[in-house]
Amino acid sequence: MDDFLLYSLFFSVLYVSLSIIYFITKANTSKPNLPPGSTGWPVIGENIDLMVPEKYISDRMKKYSPEVFKTSILGEKVAVFCGAAGNKFFFTNENTLLTTWWPQSVTKPLMFPTDAQNTLRKITILNRTNIHEIFKLENLKHYIPTMDSMAKEHIAEEWAPFREVKVYALSKYYTFALACKLFLSIEDRDEVKRLLDPIILVSTGMFSLPLNFPGTAYNRAMKGGSMVRRQLVEVIKERKAKAMMNSLGKVEDEGRDVLGRLLSVTDEEGQHLNEFEIYHYIIGILLPTYHSTSAAITFVLKFLAELPHIYQQVYKEQIEIAKSKGPNERLSWEDIQKMKYSWNVACEALRLFPPGQGGFRETVTDFTYAGFTIPKGWKTFWNVYSTHKNPKYFSEPDKFDPSRYEGNGPAPFTFVPFGGGPRMCPGKEYARLEVLVFMHNVVTNFKMEKLVPNEKIVYNSASPIPVNGLPVRLTPHQN
Ligand code: HEM
Repeated sequence: MDDFLLYSLFFSVLYVSLSIIYFITKANTSKPNLPPGSTGWPVIGENIDLMVPEKYISDRMKKYSPEVFKTSILGEKVAVFCGAAGNKFFFTNENTLLTTWWPQSVTKPLMFPTDAQNTLRKITILNRTNIHEIFKLENLKHYIPTMDSMAKEHIAEEWAPFREVKVYALSKYYTFALACKLFLSIEDRDEVKRLLDPIILVSTGMFSLPLNFPGTAYNRAMKGGSMVRRQLVEVIKERKAKAMMNSLGKVEDEGRDVLGRLLSVTDEEGQHLNEFEIYHYIIGILLPTYHSTSAAITFVLKFLAELPHIYQQVYKEQIEIAKSKGPNERLSWEDIQKMKYSWNVACEALRLFPPGQGGFRETVTDFTYAGFTIPKGWKTFWNVYSTHKNPKYFSEPDKFDPSRYEGNGPAPFTFVPFGGGPRMCPGKEYARLEVLVFMHNVVTNFKMEKLVPNEKIVYNSASPIPVNGLPVRLTPHQN
């Protein structure tokens, strides 16, 4: 009995002591003050709401915080940074607080199975060094005549013979075919199509939930991805073999295309890039070209077809340039510099329908932003809509007004269709040239009229899509 009492006393004291320790510890370890928000439904999170990105962002900015909110998208918990201050913080803390991260729905289909995120980080650094060199304006200027002759050929074959065309599909094909020529020197239509078909599969599932079973967009992206990898590596190996034969064992490719330049690139130890490294590089530029530049062209043309007063001013600028050229003379860098109003129009289309919605990163350490703790390892996202459609930065934000880009233009970190900081889109200048050259060729040939006046815009991949493909009636100019 004494023993029983002793044991009871011992366990009571132990229980009370542990309880006191527990409550003291709990009181001392204050829970991190995470950003407000909801993680939505199990597994699907808030992915469905993301299908209408502008509303998704503005609803949550109103409900939770205009600075940063928590959500769950693409199978991950994510802190979404908003407003000009959010963009600034994001773009100026690259590599100190934030590092490269892409969702599984992008990495798994497209990358060779290794440690995808690490490979990605290495490739991002490699890309940044090389891509800025390859895509610098001095090099891009040589592409302008080719862009112009391809646009002329495309318009003559795919637009001029018809009274009505669907802009979206045509601009997708055109931008991809141009990239195949300039990046890989592939011109044959069948070969272009052979590369394009699996890319379409990948791109429609690229920002979907990573659920891999038959019928899902992710499953289609996985199938497309393995075809893309096989085909592109084949193209790279063939070119490498040819380059080695031409130069007796040394990899020397004289081509001006991007692949030729990549075959000649060496790292600090003098080693050439291998096929897989080159593949990751090429896919990293082919996809945005296919996705983003085509969306940019589509939405510029949408506004030109809708707004006759804007069209008229673009026409005036472009026809003057056309009249200054000889019969077979191609556009040059000097002509591009004269397309100031046209570029303001393109910028306004990029503001209202940005082809890229923002960018992901992963946090490398715990940090505080706007009074909230963002824990190490969390995924973060900056987005275009929190500024592009915000009346605080753009008065009457739904109004199409190219004069916003005159003078000093929009305030810093508010107009961000190409991102900002060290990870700003390296294809920005390429995209600018491509969009302007295409605008020139369409506008100097036709007037356009929309066939579906209030065509709905949907987002079933990363970029906006006119649901009927933007059908327009063409009226050729009588000149
Ligand atoms: C109108 C067309 C385009 C738009 C709106 C666009 C938009 C963007 C945006 C917003 C980012 C930054 C994403 C982030 O912060 O994570 C980005 C990154 C990137 N873009 Fe573009 N892009 C376009 C065209 C292109 C083209 C034509 C190329 C290739 C020639 C390209 C290649 C890239 C690459 C490689 C990156 C990643 C850079 C890095 O992570 O350091 N883009 N783009």
